[in-house]
This record gives sequence, structure tokens and C-alpha cells, in this order.
Amino acid sequence: MKETNNFTYHDISDKDISLLIEYIKVKTTFDLNCYKMPCVKRCIARRIASTDTKDLRSYTSFVINNENELEKLLSLITIEFSSFFRNKDAFEILRSGVLSEIIESKRNKNNNLIRIWSAGCATGEEPYSISILLFELLAGIIDQFTVRIFATDVDKSSISKAIEGSYITESFKEMDNTTIHRYFIQANSCYKVKDFIRKPVFYGVQDIINDPPISHLDLLICRNVLMYLKKESQSAVFKKFHYAINQGGYLYLGKAETLPREYETAFDTVDRSWKIYRKIK
Ligand SMILES: C[S@@+](CC[C@H](N)C(=O)[O-])C[C@H]1O[C@@H](n2cnc3c(N)ncnc32)[C@H](O)[C@@H]1O
Repeated sequence: MKETNNFTYHDISDKDISLLIEYIKVKTTFDLNCYKMPCVKRCIARRIASTDTKDLRSYTSFVINNENELEKLLSLITIEFSSFFRNKDAFEILRSGVLSEIIESKRNKNNNLIRIWSAGCATGEEPYSISILLFELLAGIIDQFTVRIFATDVDKSSISKAIEGSYITESFKEMDNTTIHRYFIQANSCYKVKDFIRKPVFYGVQDIINDPPISHLDLLICRNVLMYLKKESQSAVFKKFHYAINQGGYLYLGKAETLPREYETAFDTVDRSWKIYRKIK
């Protein structure tokens, strides 16, 4: 694939890229070695084209001298795209199956704490969608529960946008107008999430590779994040995820992501096509 007239990502060798990767690791702790290299190289080639730096060496100096460019590169590699109720059918399974069962089981055990983690939540659409579902499912009894929805991402600017909670109409492709107006306040061309939906959501900058996980979870959602990681990094992350989920708790991955073979016996499959699993051991 051509990125410019005379520079493609094939021109970037593993050896040449190591200086830039090392610089980024020292500066931010973010380790690009854990990500699939063709994808990383493609993003670098695109930034070389956009910054008019002629090759990897001059681009590396440009990044070292320009913090703004470092942020732009990392944003491109981590891809912050999301939307409300993305993959609507899967959210129906969460509503009628997973979350309903969690609530039922909590009531049976007289346990009022529900803990959910949206890891790699980008700009917050995913955790707010979960908050809306729980608000609807707990109608009338929400005061009997303590709901904690942890919303984390490695990208600081994505988390700032999640906290701001203001979205353009494209984020609502899978939501109808009545629902949008029930949970958002229109302000000019944007829609801002209402306080009662924001209240159970707790944000943080967290790197699923380097940082400790959030634990004691009833549901862990990590969609469209692991697909960018190398196999060995995925395995290391799954180890943390397995530890973090309660016995009987759920894991929901992205459509293009799968449970590694070594964890297949630790989880039952709840929905094969939407990659929803339940921890059994
Ligand atoms: C395509 S978005 C997915 C958003 C949401 N989960 C969804 O499916 O709609 C991928 C997100 O993963 C985040 N991400 C990438 N690497 C990460 C890491 N090591 N730790 C935490 N988040 C990461 C990116 O910053 C980005 O916001």
C-alpha cells in the first residue's frame, strides 16, 4: 500500500523503528512492541506523509522535539473510534441475558454491589451504554444497588472526552431519537449525557498491558482493543483479565477477537458469534 509517492510502510525496517519505539516507551511507558508491527508501521508512514518529514530518521527527530506529534501518532495507532450500543444485537444479549442474570444473582445473594469494567473504552460510549442498560433494568430498585462502571483507556485525550460526555449525532447511529432524548441533553449540535447516567461511571487512564487490572468484576468488556496486540501480549492481558473476573462473571470481547486456547476451559461460551463468555474456573 502506498502512503506517499515515494515512501511506504514497507520501507520501515524493524531495526530502524526501534529508536522511535524506545523513545516512546521511556517518555510515556507505552510499549509499541506489544502491538502488531504492520499496523504500527502503517500509522508511522501516514504521519511521515502528513508532517512532510522525508523518512523515519527525520520523523523520529521530529517526534522527539514535538510532543504534539507524539500524541498524534499514538492517537492514530490506538484508534479511538466507538459509538453508543455499537453492535446492537450484542447489547440485547447483555440486556436480556448477562446483566439480568447478574442482577438476579446479586439479589439472591443479598449482595448489592455490581462491578463492571470497560477496558479500552475510547471516548466513553461503551460504559455509558452499559449505564443506560442498567438504569433501565434496575428501574425502581436502583437505590438498592451500588453500581460501579469503570471506564478506562490508555489514551488521556479519549478519557477527557469521555468525562466531557458530549457527542455528535454520528455516535448515536444505533440509538433511536426517543432514547437519545431520555438520556442526553441537546446543546447546539451536540448531546451531553445526563448526570444520572454519568453517576455510576468512574474514569481512569489505564494501560491493559502495563498496569494492574481492576478486579472483582461481574462483567469485563474489552472490545476492539486486543485485535491490535501481538499474540503474546494478548496472552499476558488475558492472564490479568482471568484473575480480575469473579467466578461466574462475564467477559465480552470484540467480534474479531477470540479467547486464547489456554483459557478455553476456564470459560463457558455464552454467545459464540458475539464473543461473550462466562468464567467457570
Ligand atoms: C477502537 S477503540 C474501541 C472502543 C470501544 N471498546 C468499542 O469497541 O467501541 C480502541 C481503544 O483501545 C484503546 N487502547 C489501545 N491500546 C490500549 C491499551 N494498551 N490499554 C488500554 N486501552 C488501549 C485505544 O486508546 C482506543 O481508545
